[in-house]
Formats: sequence, structure tokens, C-alpha cells
Amino acid sequence: MNHPLTELNRRLGGIAYGGDYNPEQWPRETWHEDVRLMREAGVNLVTVGVFSWSRLQPRPGTYDWSLLDEVLGLLHENGIAVDLATATAAPPPWFTRRHPDARPVTASGTRLSHGSRQVFCPSHPAYAAAADALVAQLAARYGDHPALVMWHVHNEWGNHNALCYCDVSASAFRTWLRERYRELDTLNEAWGTDFWGQRYSDWEEIDPPRETTALRNPGQELDYHRFSSDALLDRHRAEAALLRRFAPGTPLTTNHLGTLEKKVDAYAFAPECDLISVDHYLPAADPDGHIDLALNADMTRGMAAGRPWLLMEHSTSAVNWQPVNVAKRPGEMRRNSMAHLARGADGIMFFQWRQSRAGAEKWHSAMLPHGGTDTRIWREVRALGADLASLADVVGTRVRADVALLFDWNNWWALELQARPSARTRYLDLVREWYEALWALNITCDVIPPGQDLTPYKAVLAPNLYLLADEHADALTRYVRQGGHLAVGCFSGVVDARDQVRPGGYPGALREVLGLRVDEYLPLRTEDTIRLSDGSVAVQWAERVEPRGCTATVRFADDAGGGPARGGPAVTRHAYGAGTGWYVATRASGPTLREVVRQVAETAGLRSVADVPEGVEAVRRTGPGGSFLFLINHTDGDVDVPVGGLGLLDTVSDGSHTKIPAGGVAVLREERPPRQA
Ligand code: GAL
Repeated sequence: MNHPLTELNRRLGGIAYGGDYNPEQWPRETWHEDVRLMREAGVNLVTVGVFSWSRLQPRPGTYDWSLLDEVLGLLHENGIAVDLATATAAPPPWFTRRHPDARPVTASGTRLSHGSRQVFCPSHPAYAAAADALVAQLAARYGDHPALVMWHVHNEWGNHNALCYCDVSASAFRTWLRERYRELDTLNEAWGTDFWGQRYSDWEEIDPPRETTALRNPGQELDYHRFSSDALLDRHRAEAALLRRFAPGTPLTTNHLGTLEKKVDAYAFAPECDLISVDHYLPAADPDGHIDLALNADMTRGMAAGRPWLLMEHSTSAVNWQPVNVAKRPGEMRRNSMAHLARGADGIMFFQWRQSRAGAEKWHSAMLPHGGTDTRIWREVRALGADLASLADVVGTRVRADVALLFDWNNWWALELQARPSARTRYLDLVREWYEALWALNITCDVIPPGQDLTPYKAVLAPNLYLLADEHADALTRYVRQGGHLAVGCFSGVVDARDQVRPGGYPGALREVLGLRVDEYLPLRTEDTIRLSDGSVAVQWAERVEPRGCTATVRFADDAGGGPARGGPAVTRHAYGAGTGWYVATRASGPTLREVVRQVAETAGLRSVADVPEGVEAVRRTGPGGSFLFLINHTDGDVDVPVGGLGLLDTVSDGSHTKIPAGGVAVLREERPPRQA
């Protein structure tokens, strides 16, 4: 049997293309123009109903299906399939009025008002009852609708309301803690409550980590993150169970936030979906936002266990929620779309179809802009539809990666709790620096959690493993002993799953594999930099490393410029069992990390996807349908790449060389793909 997404693509006749469609914002006449233009653009799938709850249920107990009946019918008549949302991300005003205590409360005790979306406490039973009733009705009414091809559970779980500190959440937290620890003494031990006299003698004494006088208990806070993510996961499971019960046979997904959101562990939601979808928005302040995009896409493929996935939302141009919402340059949206496709997406969707004229997101770009069809954006949207139609053979092919990059929400939460050696050590920055080294070398990686099977990978990179659970530490040790190659970033292996420091010297769980002991962590002042023996400059962090079998490949400079660890090892390498462990004991710059990754690649026998100039992104998808090499030119100049094949899109290839214009994209169908290491 085909994977549910591949089956969906088969029904659609190719790559999924479309976006969120919110017809309730427009008069009925506009709907007809919408479907006509959707067809013109090659749209074959739209997400309907994401925020429609107040229309579908205008009053408690009263449902009104007229909007959905008509819109779904119209879409179906026009051959456009529907991803139907459960609409639970925007409880209606009547719900809040009836259940004012279901509004979320902040850590400082402020109860939030209605007037936006996701205004609900994830643990509140009144929300659960109202949401479940709606989902059951929707599923029963539309489960057999011919337009329906996919269910869209909620929308971006926890984007705005993941952490609620109300009394209902407090009580649910206690229940969650009882299940986790069973005995109060075990919790006291885990949270280290004998420090600052916080020992609990009754479960009822435990509250969420609300705003308090001074530093909060880190164990309590870490568990609150876990509990809050789990509370949303419970809601997801409840909706999914109803859909499966009342409308079996239609695959369901939820649009994950990936790296966009720290509060929700996306990896935990992945197994609860039939197919994986994600949203991604470029950080406008980042001139290399396309690298962030690639990281997110590789993580999504990790969630999908290597299978194809769906890009549920991105933007045609500017968003409206960043300080300055930079418009995409001509061609950028196409490059973004092709980069997602290259990294395994079999569907390219947008928020949203028609740009709103009212409401909070009227300044967010859309497929059909305020200016209508005589606009750059519309022309690019139409052209993209044609491009995607011509790439239908790509559907179902896979991206193969021999490297895993480890990403862990537990670690993200723990690393950024209060009172760490340096508040400047931000998880996403560390991950990004390492990912960037891989990206620059065009070595494709899967971004996966540390609990996943590592044996398929020749090398594993762990930008940071501050929190490393025992079983994950054991798995990494075994991996290297059996011949794997592992590179680890600074401040790793430090605490266990409870956030308790491993005794006997840092990096606790990794001392043996890395062949070293760290005597002291030496964070730097904001303005300080340190020189390394490879001529590069590092920032923020140093460590006093004592080799215990490892070799230093880069050292902190041997003079005052070397900072607090002057003369000591900054990058080390250690032969362990049949494998190798590298350690980078500072915030090294790009060239140093690239060299580490190059050494790892050489030792592990990894190769770049293609030999291309800097700034050209190369990713390959292969499968029974063929082999497709995607080459995305992010530079301002034309490039000539020494690879050939049958050129798709606007690619000009003479069999051994391919020209890609500035900002352009080439897709080559290869006769015989070079063996990818
Ligand atoms: C997403 C959300 C969409 C829209 C979009 C704007 O987080 O799912 O509904 O708000 O952001 O960028």
C-alpha cells in the first residue's frame, strides 16, 4: 500500500499545491472567482475551515453547515480537493463568555482576554468537551464528502497558548506528576527540593512554576514544559480518535511548527499523524533565511521517518508578525518552494489563498494579493503551479541522508532555563551553526531526536546535548564503539533527564567516548572574543579541557588572545572502539565547524551531493520514478555547474554542465545518479 501522502498525490494527479482557503471572509460571488483563479494557478488542494468555528457553531448547540456545504461542493465541482480543518484553534466568543475560566493564564497570573485565536487553556474540560463535540459533528457530516482528502487537526498546536498557569492546569500538572513519579519522594529527589527548603509533603502543595520572588526550581520548570506539551498532545489524540472513529479512511495531519516553536515537542506529535506536515516562515532579519528553511525541512523529513511530507504553510512574500516584514524578492518564493520540494515535500501550500482586507493578517502576503491578478506575486504563483505540475514524477521519491543531526526539545527546554553559566547559549543558534556547516558542504542530513535508531547513519552531529538522558548517552556510546562517527558541541553531556549534573567532571555522560574531561566551563563576556590556533575567532564560550586519550586538533591561542583556556584544546578528536568522537569546546566560527564537519565526512566516507559553487544548494531525491538533482542558486550571479542530466524546469544542461541563472533553480533528471555516499 502506498504511503497516505503518496496516495493523496495520486488522487491529486501530482504534487499538492494550494493554501489555506478562508471563504467566510468573502461574499459568495468571490468564491466563484476564487475557484476559477485556483484552477488558473494549478491549485489542486486547499485547507478549509481552520478558523471557522464561530461560523460552524454560531451558538452553543446550534450548528450551521451552510458555508461548508456550499464551499466544499463548489471546490469539488471544480476538481479542487479539500484538507478539512477541525476548526478548534479558534473557540468562538460565546465559548469564552460561557467559560471565562477556560481562558489561559500567564505565569504572572493575568487571565488573557478573548479577541484573538487559541484563547483556551489546553487542560480545561469545557474546552475539551466543546472541541470534541464539534469534531465529532464535522467528521460525521463530511467524512464521506467526495472533496475530502485529508483532515487537518487543529492548527499549530500551542503556537499561542502552550503554557497556561491557571488552577485547572495546576491540577492537571499534579496528576501528570503523580503518573510520572508515583512517589512524592521521587519527585523531591528529581527536583532537588532540599535546596532552598522546597521539599513537598503533599502533592497539593505543588503549583506550576508561576512568577515568584527569585529563581524558580529548574526541575519543576522543565517538567512544566513536558507536561504542557503533553497536554496539547492529549488534545491532538482526542481529536484524532474522533476523526478515526467517525470518518475512517481519510488520513490526518496537523501542521507542526518545527523549529518555529520551543514549547511543543513536534517529534512527540509525529507518530500521532498519518502524514507529516509543517509550516515554515523565513526569519526576515536573517539574510540566510533559506538555511533556516533547509534545517526545518530536514527536521520535517526526520519526523516523517524519511518519507515524503507536506509543506502546509509558507508565504508568497512578507509576513506581518516580524518587526520588519521584508517582502520576498522576485524568484525567492520559487527558490523556497523548490528547496522544500528538494528536501522531501510532496506538497507546497501557503497561508493563505486570498489576502485578507480586514482582520489581523491583512498585511500578510497571500497567493492572490490585494492587487489581484495584475501583480508580481500572482504571476509567480501561477508560474509555480506550472513548475510543480511539470515535476510530478518527483512524487514519492526519497531524500537519503547518511548523517543525522540530533535535535531534542527536552534539551532545548533545559538549556534555556534560568541560571545557566551563560544566558547567551541559545539552542537554536548552536544547532544552526552546525547545520550551516553541513549546508555549506551540501551534505544532506536528517534532523532527528536522540532516541531514534542511529545505526543507519555513518555520522552523527550533536550541536548541543546539555541534557542527555542515560539511555541516549548509552546509545551514543554504543554507536561510536561499533564504528559510528560522532561530533559534539560545547556544554554537552552535562545533566541527566532530571537536569541534575552528572558527577565526576564534565562532560559527564560523554567523557569516555570523547576521551577527555572538562575541568571548568569558562563563558565569555559579550564583548570578548578568543583566537584559535587555526586562525579563527571564537566567541561566548571556552572550556578547560584535559585530554584523556583525545588529540587536540585546534587549540585556544597560546597567548592572552586565547582567553581563559589559553593554550588548551578547543577541538579534539578521539578514536573510540571502531569509531571516532570529536568535541568542540567553544562557540567556533563557520570555518572551524566546517573543518570539523569536513573531517567527519572524510573519516565516515560522506560525500557532498554535488560539486557546486558556494551558495548553490544541492539536494537529490531518488526512487523508482527516477533520480532528481535539485540545484538552487542563492547567489546573485549566474553559475555553471559541472553536472549534467535531462534538464527539467528552465534548466539548460548539455549533458555534462548545467547553467543556472542568478537566483534560479535547476532540476536535473539523472540517468545514473552518482553513488551518494
Ligand atoms: C501561522 C498560522 C496561520 C497564519 C500564519 C501567518 O502560524 O498557522 O494561520 O497566521 O502563521 O504567518
